[in-house]
Amino acid sequence: MAEETAEIKVGDKSIELPLITGTENETAINIGKLRAESGLITLDPGYKNTGATQSAITFLDGEKGILRHRGYSIEELAENSTFLEVAYLLIYGELPTPAEYETFTKDITHHTLVHEDFKKILDGFPASSHPMGVLSSLVTAMTAFYPESLDPNRSKEAVYMSIVRILAKMPTFAAWAFKNQMGHPVVYPKNNLDYCSNFLHMMFNLPSQDYDVDPVVSAALNKLLILHADHEQNCSTSTVRIVGSSQASLYVSLSAGINALWGPLHGGANQAVIEMLENIKADGGDTQKWMDKAKDKNDPFRLMGFGHRVYKNFDPRAKIIKKAADDVLEKLGVVDPVLDIAKGLEEVALKDPYFVERNLYPNVDFYSGIIYRALGIPTEMFTVMFALGRLPGWIAQWKEMRENNEPIGRPRQVYVGETERPYVDMSKR
Ligand code: SDX
Repeated sequence: MAEETAEIKVGDKSIELPLITGTENETAINIGKLRAESGLITLDPGYKNTGATQSAITFLDGEKGILRHRGYSIEELAENSTFLEVAYLLIYGELPTPAEYETFTKDITHHTLVHEDFKKILDGFPASSHPMGVLSSLVTAMTAFYPESLDPNRSKEAVYMSIVRILAKMPTFAAWAFKNQMGHPVVYPKNNLDYCSNFLHMMFNLPSQDYDVDPVVSAALNKLLILHADHEQNCSTSTVRIVGSSQASLYVSLSAGINALWGPLHGGANQAVIEMLENIKADGGDTQKWMDKAKDKNDPFRLMGFGHRVYKNFDPRAKIIKKAADDVLEKLGVVDPVLDIAKGLEEVALKDPYFVERNLYPNVDFYSGIIYRALGIPTEMFTVMFALGRLPGWIAQWKEMRENNEPIGRPRQVYVGETERPYVDMSKR
């Protein structure tokens, strides 16, 4: 079948560019030879219309609200899987056999302990430190303790161990960052606990008070981590890919991803949502007033947790999280007034022409903070929870980019600055 092409005409010039169609019938124009053949480049701030890669990990359809990992729907994975099984699926492409799953989980369990010298790094952070900054620093410090990880082209076994170590230690780092903020002693991992229970144990166990992990809380955390596991070429994943494209190591690529996620327009939104809801509550709960502010172009206020670059329909994760929030709060007997404010905002927004015309729906961050709060996780740890969930997705995307030997990322630009001009001596300025 003749290769399908797109024709670009500029002046009297015409260029044929090949079309690429993926397994879900998405079609792209491959502009790989555009500049060589025409001297032209494309311009697309925020890459809203630009594909950076061909990936087999996650498919999402923003118009239909579809999200699948390696072909499995997020609804089925959230209902039936465990976070480590989804991690394995994302990273290695298939659901693990029982033997593969046992090996993977056992390897991770036996690497949750971190070198005692990490505490020296942790002690350097004042209690006022935001846990995201502590987390990205500790992840970068992994290169110091595991220098063999610096070479991304080492053996498959070496790469496997680098992956296992960070999947194992990230919950420990996250919990220790929280303990540092609380001024409490760190809690060591326990090998007889599963992944989510171990994290909760390290977060909430105290010398003065043993913490018994509630299965409801552990199950809710498992679901939340699955819902955050990957989301194709979002801001932080694109950051991990572009840092890794220079052949920088896995750990520093992940650390860059953590920092990109921190922004309030991205993973930092879950913290910003709760702060927004608290402000609305403190302001008397007048949701219409805050809706009007969100629509006012002269007002910098945006409705955090609403809108999405890709989903122009409901974010399927938001639907699952909203139901989970109702279930978890009921099971735990928690009554949270900001949940009612959130539902009130959503109700008003879904009928408001401004939001409807712009396809602004609740995203993954709108309800997640309410569950984290009900689980006893403090607001400044919400984005850390997002990073814990997104870790296997970042790893899978970094590994795919390396295995596909993708070129170093180096976008072009259109220069709009001063044209050439002579230097002026200081005495003449
Ligand atoms: C995540 O990409 C991913 O996949 C990310 C993520 C993942 O899993 O990795 O899904 C996680 O980051 C979710 C998004 C979390 N962020 C927020 O909740 C912050 C609030 N939302 C936004 O700021 C915004 O919606 C973005 C950043 C999410 C998307 O912005 P876009 O795609 O660049 O859209 P835009 O800013 O161009 O907005 C289009 C219009 C604008 O109005 P007009 O200029 O057309 O008049 O919609 C308006 C915007 O002003 N708008 C909002 C709004 N979001 C967009 N107006 C009020 N409140 C909002 N939240």
